[in-house]
Amino acid sequence: MRHLIDIHDLSTAEIESLIATANDIMANPDKYAEKCKRKKLATLFYEPSTRTRLSFESAMLELGGSVIGFSEAASSSSAKGESVADTARTVSCFADIIAMRHPKEGAPLVASMAASIPVINAGDGGHNHPTQTLTDLLTISRVKGRLGNMTVGLCGDLMFGRTVHSLIGALSRYEGIRFVMISPEELTIPDYVQQDILQKNGIPYRETRSLEEAMPELDVLYMTRVQRERFFNEADYIRLKDSYILTPEKLRTAKEDLAILHPLPRVNEISTAVDADPRACYFKQVLCGKYIRMALIMMLLGVD
Ligand code: NCD
Repeated sequence: MRHLIDIHDLSTAEIESLIATANDIMANPDKYAEKCKRKKLATLFYEPSTRTRLSFESAMLELGGSVIGFSEAASSSSAKGESVADTARTVSCFADIIAMRHPKEGAPLVASMAASIPVINAGDGGHNHPTQTLTDLLTISRVKGRLGNMTVGLCGDLMFGRTVHSLIGALSRYEGIRFVMISPEELTIPDYVQQDILQKNGIPYRETRSLEEAMPELDVLYMTRVQRERFFNEADYIRLKDSYILTPEKLRTAKEDLAILHPLPRVNEISTAVDADPRACYFKQVLCGKYIRMALIMMLLGVD
């Protein structure tokens, strides 16, 4: 049984084949309209979501399958004290594949050990978000035409931003990748990401507090929201929330072919005045998310 809990569960060849399938779906959607006929996806979301849950659901519907699930813990039996493992065993009786989002790091892994159907991690606490990373890779490969030989700026909440951790894991496999980590001192990338991924693989990276200073060298700028729900203390959130706000002025020194990504939702870290800039890719990214999830669902269900 294949699950997707961590981006490292996929080989580089598999990631590339998912990207190729997603590109083919975009070009020939009709070919895929019945690929998952009579298959059911269960979306078990214990945390808020707009894009991830709805893109999973529309992905399954566009494959001819159907969808069940819940979108808040309060409306599931977890409110009565049921464990994630028991919920996963139960849902295995009803569905063919699970996408789970949970505030606790490791919950989807626990679910995958109890489930008898594939489990996809749709975000676990401040840890990982592998399907956002697949979305990001598809977007970067379509916009830039490559995944290596780039300087990638990661900006904002690098400590709690789970999408950043998975993205570093995936991009680190490619030749010629360099990272510039742009964050306040309190929100730098966790030690395990630095040690287990960056240092272990000898990936060049540097840290800076200044977006302006980093801007001219970037090929990709990945903006993130300060993750309010992961803070222990509201005062710290308020102090840090406006650390970086991308505006048209700050883009003046940027490369002409910079790609600006953001997993969304945005709060205020990208001014809406940037949306009209041709370098803004974050809504393209949302669309890519649906197609790569279609490819992933087919792969995990063994649909050819
Ligand atoms: C991200 C997440 O949930 O981690 N959103 C998403 O899935 N597109 C980013 C965020 O919430 O800031």
